[in-house]
Amino acid sequence: MLTGIPNTSGSVEWQSPANIALVKYWGKRPVQWPMNPSLSFVLKESVVRIRMDYEIGADIDFHLRGFSLNGQDNEAFAGRIERYLSGLSTFFPFLRHARLSIHSHSSFPHSAGIASSAAAFSALALCVGSIEARMTGKEESGSEFLRKASFMARLGSGSACRSLWGGMVIWGHTKWVAGSSDDHGCRLDEGAVHEDFRQLNDAVLIVDSRTKKVSSSEGHALMHTHPFRKQRVEQAGHNMERILGALRSGHMDLFGEVMENEALSLHSLMMSSTPGYILMHPNTILMIDRIRSFRQRTHTPAYLTLDAGPNIHLIYPASHKEAVRGFIVEELSSLCEDGRWIDDRMGEGPVALG
Ligand code: DP6
Repeated sequence: MLTGIPNTSGSVEWQSPANIALVKYWGKRPVQWPMNPSLSFVLKESVVRIRMDYEIGADIDFHLRGFSLNGQDNEAFAGRIERYLSGLSTFFPFLRHARLSIHSHSSFPHSAGIASSAAAFSALALCVGSIEARMTGKEESGSEFLRKASFMARLGSGSACRSLWGGMVIWGHTKWVAGSSDDHGCRLDEGAVHEDFRQLNDAVLIVDSRTKKVSSSEGHALMHTHPFRKQRVEQAGHNMERILGALRSGHMDLFGEVMENEALSLHSLMMSSTPGYILMHPNTILMIDRIRSFRQRTHTPAYLTLDAGPNIHLIYPASHKEAVRGFIVEELSSLCEDGRWIDDRMGEGPVALG
């Protein structure tokens, strides 16, 4: 606990990944608590790197001096980030006396259609946590540090709280996982994940990289009055129970079945909202058909999921890489925007860079 505000300055830097949800977070309660538990894993290549330069002093008022993305000042993000960091001062009072400059770099290919907010907000939360740790002499790693960063990341973007760990991460309380919480993410124990699920690949098939017509935040809000709200909470609970069982026992088909059910249910919820909307494109549907028939024909365990957008994540064990790559090149890449897809895989979580 800090007593008084010391005069200090320095720089912290973190790299943090995007994550892909298998059981979806859709709908929230204030303040950014999930309507249902969700499960995801982080990616290896899709990361955001953030360096935060800070000056702290009793006579300084909170101020974001600048925010750049890939070397260019970015006014559009600066406002959201300034509001976020100013809100965190309830938990980190030193922020009220901080002058910050933030430089961020995203590894995501330009307009990849992958949400970078989970990577960005988890990296920001880690930077603030590191500044606090340096001021108090606490550790900048370990479970307590990561749990607090996850709590803070959640306040920026719900799914960001799942980007703090490698392996499978759950967010939202469920009786099936001890330590799971609505407040922050929680990594599943090694013993809860069969070795067949420890090296998954994710081919991100870019169908359309343009900004979505309806943002995730607007979609979450439509769940407040959704006619299937209660059923969705029940379904997510049931799917969580089933996927946790599949992960533990190594039941790949059940894992894939639940994942695809979650993706299609998410989009059905969008269609049955008031007003209803469709984020899938004709090529999304064509790809879904081709993926399912490839699986039936070849018995390759490759399954799809979708975030709140038209792009497909094709998830499969790394051991099937050759077969899946061949399939993508022959049957899917022609349906991708400019033939683009990203060859990503499960990562190990954030990395401290300085
Ligand atoms: C469909 O975390 O982007 O990707 O909390 O409003 O920032 P906010 O929403 P966000 O929602 C992600 C929704 C999803 C499913 C998921 O990642 O679980």
